[in-house]
Amino acid sequence: MEPRLFLTDDGSHSLRDTNFGVSYHSSHGAVQESRHVFIEAGLRDLLVSETSIRIVELGFGTGLNALLVRQLADLNSTIQFYYTTYEQYPVDPRQARQFNYPEVLACAPTWLYELHDSDWGTAHQLCPNFTFQKHRQDFLAGPQDATEVVFYDAFAPEQQPELWTVAAMGHCYRLLAPGGRLVTYCAKGQFKRNLRAAGFRVERLPGPIGKREMTRALV
Ligand SMILES: C[S@@+](CC[C@H](N)C(=O)[O-])C[C@H]1O[C@@H](n2cnc3c(N)ncnc32)[C@H](O)[C@@H]1O
Repeated sequence: MEPRLFLTDDGSHSLRDTNFGVSYHSSHGAVQESRHVFIEAGLRDLLVSETSIRIVELGFGTGLNALLVRQLADLNSTIQFYYTTYEQYPVDPRQARQFNYPEVLACAPTWLYELHDSDWGTAHQLCPNFTFQKHRQDFLAGPQDATEVVFYDAFAPEQQPELWTVAAMGHCYRLLAPGGRLVTYCAKGQFKRNLRAAGFRVERLPGPIGKREMTRALV
């Protein structure tokens, strides 16, 4: 069954998954959460040191994280962004037309539509410094190429325990280039122990509104 659209507290949309019974974002605000966890904690400091940033995401979902990076690329024209995302249960592109992200982010609706409409498995240069590729595939069976940043945006460990194990974190660790990092909203104790067991150095950072902590893990 199609996930259900709902409005979060910051006025941006999210989806509630009917199989897992969970929402794609915090009810306190989808955009505020994505900005806090993935843009601010994941990328902000790299914007002053890097000229090229590769990002691999688990869970394309609504496309919100990719759209925020597309917007970041527009504001940082001297940096090349390469965004690769994995999605096992895609949202129908027709449903994506209903998301109010272009309005909330004050960007062109086509930026969001291009992400959802692009072919699976093909790299698309959507603007001079933003290259986007999505794969309809299980993340754990997917990426092998080195990356600087992993956006780990799976459903929570209660819903998808297999995606938060030492083995899953080992997969992420091997993907990351020296100095690379993984960011996620999850701050569960067992998850952080699994990150350490996989070789990561773990940072506890203040969480987005409604959450005490989030996690950034460094190679
Ligand atoms: C918490 S939602 C977040 C999605 C997205 N980042 C967003 O902002 O809308 C988790 C997403 O991971 C996807 N997913 C779940 N298991 C997966 C897997 N093994 N590989 C790839 N994607 C997966 C789900 O279908 C869902 O779209």
